[in-house]
Amino acid sequence: MLSINKVAIGASIALFASSVAAHAGHGGPKPGGSKTMNVHKRASNTASNYQAEASITSTAEECTAYYIEEVNALASAYPTIWTIASIPTADTYASSVFNAMSSGIPNIAPRGTSNGDFSGVTYDTSTDPDCWWTQTGCTKPKAAGIPDDVITCPEAKTWGLSFDDGPNCTHNAFYDFLQTNNQKATMCYIGSNVMDWPLQAQRGIADGHHIIGHTWSHMYMTSLTNEEVFAELYYSSKAIKDIMGISVEAWRPPYGDVDDRVRYIATQLGLKTILWDNDTDDWEVEPAGDLTQAQVEANYQDILGNVSSSHGTIVLTHEINEYTMELFMTEYSKIQGVYSHIVPLTACMNWTDPYQEGDITYPNFEDYVAGTTMPSGSPTTFTISSASYSPYQGGGSSVVAAEGLATGAASSASSSGSKAKSSSGSSGSAASASSGSSDASSTSKSSASGLTKPLAGIAAAVFGGVAFVIFA
Ligand SMILES: *[C@@H]1O[C@H](CO)[C@@H](O)[C@H](O)[C@H]1NC(C)=O
Ligand SMILES: *[C@@H]1O[C@H](CO)[C@@H](O)[C@H](O)[C@H]1NC(C)=O
Ligand SMILES: *[C@@H]1O[C@H](CO)[C@@H](O)[C@H](O)[C@H]1NC(C)=O
Ligand SMILES: *[C@@H]1O[C@H](CO)[C@@H](O)[C@H](O)[C@H]1NC(C)=O
Ligand SMILES: [Zn+2]
Repeated sequence: MLSINKVAIGASIALFASSVAAHAGHGGPKPGGSKTMNVHKRASNTASNYQAEASITSTAEECTAYYIEEVNALASAYPTIWTIASIPTADTYASSVFNAMSSGIPNIAPRGTSNGDFSGVTYDTSTDPDCWWTQTGCTKPKAAGIPDDVITCPEAKTWGLSFDDGPNCTHNAFYDFLQTNNQKATMCYIGSNVMDWPLQAQRGIADGHHIIGHTWSHMYMTSLTNEEVFAELYYSSKAIKDIMGISVEAWRPPYGDVDDRVRYIATQLGLKTILWDNDTDDWEVEPAGDLTQAQVEANYQDILGNVSSSHGTIVLTHEINEYTMELFMTEYSKIQGVYSHIVPLTACMNWTDPYQEGDITYPNFEDYVAGTTMPSGSPTTFTISSASYSPYQGGGSSVVAAEGLATGAASSASSSGSKAKSSSGSSGSAASASSGSSDASSTSKSSASGLTKPLAGIAAAVFGGVAFVIFA
């Protein structure tokens, strides 16, 4: 099916402008930027484990890079950090996983550029053939074999807590705050940040947060080739497995930019796509961004003012810098005053087994709100090693479907029965493909991620020749 339709340019401009204004509302590290981070080459910070890093109180010291030999040794098996991922030639296992899925990928062409310039792209938003969220807000895929995106928490007066673009080096005060409040969240980690700040990443899982992927380099995914989409998802999941010891089953698309081609590849990797239904635009807060604290507080206030007694919400907030984290800490007591429950997405979906590792169990909604917030079996010590990641492949779509996760309508929420899972992927060879797919027959999974904009603030996007600003 052809994805780019010849529609009247004038009409498409108007549709683009309004839909983008409505949906492209979150920020993250600016894609394609000139990040100069190295994988742990600077050695003045001598922290060598996550507890030591977690005890640092000066943000400057937190952000002084440290050298972890095992992470440095991993790097050659990965794409270059903060650049569009592709499969390194030597990685024959990743190639075999990609080749196994490639014939089924929907025939949708990449559109626009990796930093969100869609000028010259026309797309029929009235039929929305590819369920392209950035244009229409579509979250119910039209291609076969892909589950609906997760966009909300079904439970009443429940704030689904999710932070994009971590791990950020300055997060200690914020993670301490969450710990003090016995509060867990869903953390959407960028693979390049995990490689840059492995001790901060390890703290995230050790503290009991729910981890999902947010791609390797935080680009607009619909602009990338099939192999690049695959590699962005694959290597961010692999970094989380190799460094943090868990195989994620969900991701959040940077900028929410997802269509059925991208969803299909994610699904084949056993990754469920998670978006949101309320957005704080916190990434724009000063001094890194262009909104005053009062303006972003007003966004929080809108969400509080629209609280529903019949359902909850997944709110987009960011770990992108200390200012977004500080703002959340300021707002926390106000949220508590309006929402009965503030929960990680595992709890809001009753998703008790969000990783391939079957020995890790998260509390369901009932247990979480009763005070059992800590998962059991999640790692607290880490052995960093490569070649341990083995995605659910091929069977990813049945894996995701079998999970039976809530995707939006409260009535669709259900939790699945028992699932057989591999306790830890240790394949690294194509042979694991068959065990992966048999596993899939009795399990289901998926993932998603968000966005950031640390560098320049706003990306100018151009649709149909008309430039406007995307909040990213
Ligand atoms: C509900 O949200 C809208 C924006 O989405 C906002 O304009 C309105 O003021 C909010 N309502 C309340 C009561 O806060
Ligand atoms: C924000 O969340 C509330 C529930 O708290 C929900 O009723 C509302 O629809 C959400 N807003 C949007 C724009 O989805
Ligand atoms: C982390 O946050 C600091 C400010 O607190 C910011 O300067 C830095 O750019 C952020 N890092 C990333 C990778 O976003
Ligand atoms: C979660 O499970 C509880 C029972 O423990 C049930 O009452 C609730 O409806 C479930 N919620 C969702 C969103 O599945
Ligand atoms: Zn993001």
